[in-house]
Amino acid sequence: MIGLGMIFDETYRPLFEQLHADKLYRGDFGLVDVELAAVASRTGSRGERYKKSAAGRVADFVNFAGPDAVRDMLPRVDAVCVATPDDRHHEAARLALDAGKHVLIEKPSVLNLQQLDELTALARQRGVLAKVVYHKLADPDHKKLRTYVVDGLLKHVNNGYCTLLEPKSISGGQFAEWIKGRNPATYVAVHYIKLIDFTFGPAWALRRITATGQRGLVGDDDGPTWDSVQLQMIYVHPDGREAAFDIHTSWVTPDNFPGYVEQEVQFRFDNAVWLAHQRKRGVEVCVEGKTPLEMKNTPNHHYNGTFVEPWGERSQRGYGIEILRRFFEEVAFVEFGGAAAERNGRLQRMQELTYNDLSADRNTVAVVQALEAILARHVRGEPGSMVEVNGAKGGLVLRMPGQSKEIVLYADPV
Ligand SMILES: NC(=O)c1ccc[n+]([C@@H]2O[C@H](COP(=O)([O-])OP(=O)(O)OC[C@H]3O[C@@H](n4cnc5c(N)ncnc54)[C@H](O)[C@@H]3O)[C@@H](O)[C@H]2O)c1
Repeated sequence: MIGLGMIFDETYRPLFEQLHADKLYRGDFGLVDVELAAVASRTGSRGERYKKSAAGRVADFVNFAGPDAVRDMLPRVDAVCVATPDDRHHEAARLALDAGKHVLIEKPSVLNLQQLDELTALARQRGVLAKVVYHKLADPDHKKLRTYVVDGLLKHVNNGYCTLLEPKSISGGQFAEWIKGRNPATYVAVHYIKLIDFTFGPAWALRRITATGQRGLVGDDDGPTWDSVQLQMIYVHPDGREAAFDIHTSWVTPDNFPGYVEQEVQFRFDNAVWLAHQRKRGVEVCVEGKTPLEMKNTPNHHYNGTFVEPWGERSQRGYGIEILRRFFEEVAFVEFGGAAAERNGRLQRMQELTYNDLSADRNTVAVVQALEAILARHVRGEPGSMVEVNGAKGGLVLRMPGQSKEIVLYADPV
């Protein structure tokens, strides 16, 4: 495990504890031990704390820290999960893949297509899985949305909006160490970029990306750190009709907002409208002295909740954890799901899963690369640029208003 921050604590930690207690079982690969063997982080302090607090609930893992932590850790493991800040995924994943380890990366996988090409090539050369986590694809509401699309009930998506607003405590507390120069869209709009690309693709093509945003709360009002971002991405269907999606993100929502994260989507089709609210799914609760700060008024128990089960056990479950378990099932299937001589066939089947394979993350990474370039241009005093996808001049081409020159961000086709 590389990176022991918020997402480790929320999702990986409970999964490793469950796997330590129950192991992993499926009919095709049998009973497989999955243990947290080693961790790598910057300072090692969270690893030390976790080692003490979790003694007996996970394996006695080795805690590596400092600049060589990842290299030092690699000989001890078969698979690696990368949950470092988003601009530090690439290097960690590159080292792990190069060492022949299966890799799972937190979203966004990487920040540009050049990095994506390098990682996917390495995974092929070494014969391992390189996967990315987009847990929203496992949200039952999004699974149902896609089921209706696959079954032809919802016809031809035309446009839509998505919004994801995080509280100020995220940008001001937990992320304060690495947030300088970063933006909330790369961090969370990717959930929706991927949802849209995966749910309504792959027959269509990504065409253009634009973005703008606001500064001044997390950092200076003319600096590189963004409070909120509005992104628009446009696809073209095979029939030539365009589909446009607006994704609004923020990490400066007041902390006393009634939910931890405000999340809503609306998609309009030729014959339908789909509107989903990921927070207001039915529960509204108010407790004196606790809501809305310590507890929220409209909790999402589907993502990740702690429960007393009817049979008395305490549990932690939800799609945020399910999606990680699924990665270990895919690794176990490759390694133990049949004869050794057929491993390549199993590997290929798992690499063909477009929901999480890095090779299928091209459009999402392309939008992130475009967004980062547009915002960087804005910081230099040139707002309003646009990225064209797979045009005459290249795969990703940045065009600035009032300027005839363009900048090729990625030359090959996206
Ligand atoms: N799936 C989700 O919904 C979700 C939610 C939150 C975060 N994330 C993703 O998880 C990743 C981490 O986010 P977080 O919220 O846990 O962040 P965090 O700031 O809480 O934790 C980051 C961790 O990475 C470690 N780290 C930083 N640089 C490192 C390096 N070079 N080598 C090794 N370790 C390093 C830090 O020591 C820390 O343990 C991000 O990519 C983020 O987008 C995903």
